[in-house]
Amino acid sequence: MASYTSLAVFLLTLFTFTASKEANLILLDDPGEAVCLDGSPPGFYYREGSGSDATKIIIHLEGGGVCVDEEDCLGRSKTDLGSSKNWKQMADFGGFLSDIKLFNEKFYDWNIVFVKYCDGGLYSGYVSQPVDVNGTSIYFRGNTILKAIMQYLRDNGIKEASDVILTGCSAGGIATYIHADYVRSVLPSSVNYRAMSDAGYFIEVLNVNGEPIAKERGQKVYKLHNMSISLDEDCAKDYTGNDTYKCTAPQYLYPYIKTPIFSFNSQYDTWQIENNLQLDCDPPHCTPEQMEKLQEFFKEFQAAETNIINSTTNGAFLDSCFAHCQSLDSHGWNRVKVGGQSAAETFANWYFGESEGSVKEVDCPYPCNKSC
Ligand SMILES: *[C@@H]1O[C@H](CO)[C@@H](O)[C@H](O)[C@H]1NC(C)=O
Ligand SMILES: *[C@@H]1O[C@H](CO)[C@@H](O)[C@H](O)[C@H]1NC(C)=O
Ligand SMILES: *[C@@H]1O[C@H](CO)[C@@H](O)[C@H](O)[C@H]1NC(C)=O
Ligand SMILES: *[C@@H]1O[C@H](CO)[C@@H](O)[C@H](O)[C@H]1NC(C)=O
Repeated sequence: MASYTSLAVFLLTLFTFTASKEANLILLDDPGEAVCLDGSPPGFYYREGSGSDATKIIIHLEGGGVCVDEEDCLGRSKTDLGSSKNWKQMADFGGFLSDIKLFNEKFYDWNIVFVKYCDGGLYSGYVSQPVDVNGTSIYFRGNTILKAIMQYLRDNGIKEASDVILTGCSAGGIATYIHADYVRSVLPSSVNYRAMSDAGYFIEVLNVNGEPIAKERGQKVYKLHNMSISLDEDCAKDYTGNDTYKCTAPQYLYPYIKTPIFSFNSQYDTWQIENNLQLDCDPPHCTPEQMEKLQEFFKEFQAAETNIINSTTNGAFLDSCFAHCQSLDSHGWNRVKVGGQSAAETFANWYFGESEGSVKEVDCPYPCNKSC
């Protein structure tokens, strides 16, 4: 008898720890100009909050690279990153977006709005007319999509929100830097508002052969998607002509952002190392020459992160794991430690800190961190 009871208790415990509530897809039913690359309506997954956090909302901008030319965007328009046609009805999320208290102690019962990425251009583009690519119409409307989603949220209760956090990873992390102040501008001033960018601090490194791959991609994407509508005004005064694209590059844009913002980023971000540095190995399986290139990348990242380090109000968790988008799973959010603290703890210290101060954990060079 006793053993049946303990089994039941065990199963119940297991169930409450692992059963997570799924989020439902909401598509904008009258999107107007705000459409995905293929012309389909954009949308987001919504999971309702509860308890004392029922008035608090995390808005997450999904990531997924960029499309760099018309042909590339035509290809993307046939996938879930460019069309809502095949999005599933339900989704569930981990890490910072988890609704399981054990893994997400401070935010598990917040409302979640997980915005789907379908414009291929950092939620930042606006080309007024569809572009004909081999007989197919392609739409560059990322900025329009974000505005329409924010309008929808305003029409559906965000006015009553007490707290909003804007977040996103990778392309969504860049978009978090680009749009942090815009989102503030469309929320009631009574809302307690902050932002957290995950894996969005892309730096402009040369690749291993000395070619400016990252810079060229940034310029190309800026132009193709016509991102001028998304620029910070002060930034655009300082970077003119061919340099205007820099106001969509976090490393240059960062000092202009007025919203309190937390940067969660690996100093050895795998996406940047593979696609921008174009290092052809995974440590520890690299030659001494390759390791040298890797540590040069780290030094450049350190130089570019002084913006973040010098800020007296913003927060940061800059680890040295080979990783990308670490806020979305329990390993990156809870188990990786820097200075004895997890990202979840560091972010909470910054977010809930009584003093307006800065909270930052910055890791030592690879391979010093044993918790990766
Ligand atoms: C357009 O179609 C032609 C011929 O079918 C093909 O060679 C070309 O690659 C296509 N271009 C794009 C952008 O898809
Ligand atoms: C590019 O964006 C600017 C600013 O929003 C807009 O005035 C212009 O019409 C756009 N260009 C095209 C080709 O849509
Ligand atoms: C801007 O870029 C274009 C095309 O690469 C080039 O022809 C032009 O000289 C550049 N302008 C400036 C001011 O650097
Ligand atoms: C950060 O602070 C250091 C030391 O005060 C200073 O030398 C450096 O120029 C600052 N960097 C930036 C980007 O503000």
